[in-house]
Amino acid sequence: MVGYLTLHLTRAMRIPPHESRDLVLAALIHDLGAVGVDERFQMLEFEEQDAHFHGLLGSHLVASYPPLSHLQTYLLGHHLDWQHGKGNRIAGIWIPYNCHLLHMADRIAVMIDRSRPILDQVESIVATIQDASGSRFPPDMVDRFTRLADNEVIWLDIAANKMDQVLKQGVGSKTIPMTGENLTRFAQFIAGVIDSRSPFTATHSSGVASVSRHLAEKMARDPIVCDKIEVAGYLHDIGKLAVSPAILDKPAKLDEAEWRHMHSHTYYTHEILSHLSGFEEIDNWASMHHETLDGGGYPFHVTEDQLSLEARIIAVADVFTALTEERPYRAGLDQTHVSRILRDMVANNHLDDQVVTTALSDYETTNRIRSMAQMREHRDWISFHALIDERRRVHQTQ
Ligand SMILES: [Fe+2]
Ligand SMILES: [Fe+2]
Ligand SMILES: [Fe+2]
Repeated sequence: MVGYLTLHLTRAMRIPPHESRDLVLAALIHDLGAVGVDERFQMLEFEEQDAHFHGLLGSHLVASYPPLSHLQTYLLGHHLDWQHGKGNRIAGIWIPYNCHLLHMADRIAVMIDRSRPILDQVESIVATIQDASGSRFPPDMVDRFTRLADNEVIWLDIAANKMDQVLKQGVGSKTIPMTGENLTRFAQFIAGVIDSRSPFTATHSSGVASVSRHLAEKMARDPIVCDKIEVAGYLHDIGKLAVSPAILDKPAKLDEAEWRHMHSHTYYTHEILSHLSGFEEIDNWASMHHETLDGGGYPFHVTEDQLSLEARIIAVADVFTALTEERPYRAGLDQTHVSRILRDMVANNHLDDQVVTTALSDYETTNRIRSMAQMREHRDWISFHALIDERRRVHQTQ
């Protein structure tokens, strides 16, 4: 909804199409840095520090991904108040004027209650925005919005769920070619977003990606398949974006209800990846990682004949990584334990015999590759958060 409102506001402000497109794109991902934070960000008002923190996190996440890096100041500043003209910097970084449109669109969006008739709400939304003219939003933007709000169709399109359609017509869709390095960078970027949610799983995706590639190479898969399987490893838990951090970070065993919630994550991995063209195989391999050969896995309950070798590799890499890495409630397991658990899973017709044999036949190498990838990722995680903390400190002292 923020993207949709931003589009209308940029038109009302006569912002040139290329800039409007960037603002809309920024609006679509504006809370990227808040995916790891709990529901308090859904609230109408929240602490200014928290708001800038998720802006900072989001801007750093996109900064590492070239196709989106030019949007970083928009993500950083999307909660910045106008402060009668003084609101143009965060932590010493200049925030573009038009970013205030994004801020306004965001605040309008949180006021809309979709369970009530939308036209009954317009008056109070407009009044609230007008009250904040000068303090939170630039007065000329508030004036344009006030005029725009008279246009019923803008509100009725929200109620009728036409926002996606309007957005597609308004900005079209830009495709980023997903091949080779671009594809891997995209996957690393997404894995960074997934892992940024939880300090305990911060390195899991890169462990699974590296073990999957290693096993695929050892099993003499085609080099293109090896590239894709690495990407599938990075993305296998993307559906965890739909699982509450309170469950992801629980430092103890999950109860039954929490498990049910957790079990839905591969469904969402499929749901997300199925929208990306060219990702059909990656989607299939990644979203099957909790299926078992006997059909007792979840959530699709497919059986042996529907599980490709690549899907079986990701499943083994996931278990291998989960067992050997440190978890919130236990240290990584040793070789004897890991081998016994994996062998039991083969005996119970859960995991593929050949893939497990490949992983265990050279245990040292498999584990070293996993641990090096996770150590690299951990170092990045530490420096990333040190940078965020530093920026936050600069902001607090200003
Ligand atoms: Fe936000
Ligand atoms: Fe998973
Ligand atoms: Fe996983």
